[in-house]
Amino acid sequence: MGKIIDGKAIAAGLYDQMRQEVEQMEVQYGRRPGLTVIIVGEDPASQVYVRNKEVNAKKVGLVSEVIRMPEQTTQDELLAVIARLNADTTVDGILVQLPVPKHIDKDAVIAAVAPDKDVDGFFGMKSGFTLKHGYVAPCTPRACIHLIKTTGETIEGKHALVVGRGELVGKPVATLLLNENATVTIAHSRTRNLGEIARTADIIIAAVGKPKIITGEMVKPGAILIDVGINRDENGKLCGDIAFDSAEPVAGWITPVPGGVGPMTIAMLIRNTLDCYLKHVK
Ligand code: GUN
Repeated sequence: MGKIIDGKAIAAGLYDQMRQEVEQMEVQYGRRPGLTVIIVGEDPASQVYVRNKEVNAKKVGLVSEVIRMPEQTTQDELLAVIARLNADTTVDGILVQLPVPKHIDKDAVIAAVAPDKDVDGFFGMKSGFTLKHGYVAPCTPRACIHLIKTTGETIEGKHALVVGRGELVGKPVATLLLNENATVTIAHSRTRNLGEIARTADIIIAAVGKPKIITGEMVKPGAILIDVGINRDENGKLCGDIAFDSAEPVAGWITPVPGGVGPMTIAMLIRNTLDCYLKHVK
């Protein structure tokens, strides 16, 4: 019987812990960590994400600011705001909500954020997130690793399969798994024999955006399954990249969709902000 990894409960525990940590930080270092989110334009999904980030940042006690800029903002105007925040010693984390309007070069914007304030972990991606570089890891990949660790099972030496090679999840989570000494396979849309490979995996991270592509018969008994997918099934119901009903009885552990990785990503954004703060005050 698969055991459910309850992302919502794990995130709630992290928020409690971080709230206490922020209180102690203020006593010890004389200020609270600051997170500033910039949103350009009116994209409705982005508005919801940013609102969620703001609510949770405040819940933990961060100094949280959202800068809302109009759709017609020029790239230079946005870069000037980022430059001001880079120089502001009360701001530990800067996040520019993506997508930005088409007339703005996303890469130029990402590159403009000071690496030590890059709570998205985009800089770390280029360096492989080694401790030497000191950058934080991106939120969703970090959430995956945290969820695996809550099972109490080791990652070291295990065969971890990442399904999906995207820049935001697949590639960085594969790097994080390597850092944890897993043996890592990355599968993608051109992979042959996905089932055969999957059946040899002790850990599967599904981040490909294809509803229910991993089914129960592709799962090794006892495997840890982390589902990053958020899709709609044929009935319009929210589902992951893993066919939960068939995989759950085979798996050792499995994250549900919704309620698995999703609730963890903003918790990890705030964790990243605290980690950036600690580097600033120490
Ligand atoms: N928009 C959707 N996901 C993300 C994310 O992880 N970071 C940023 N900056 N924007 C996003």
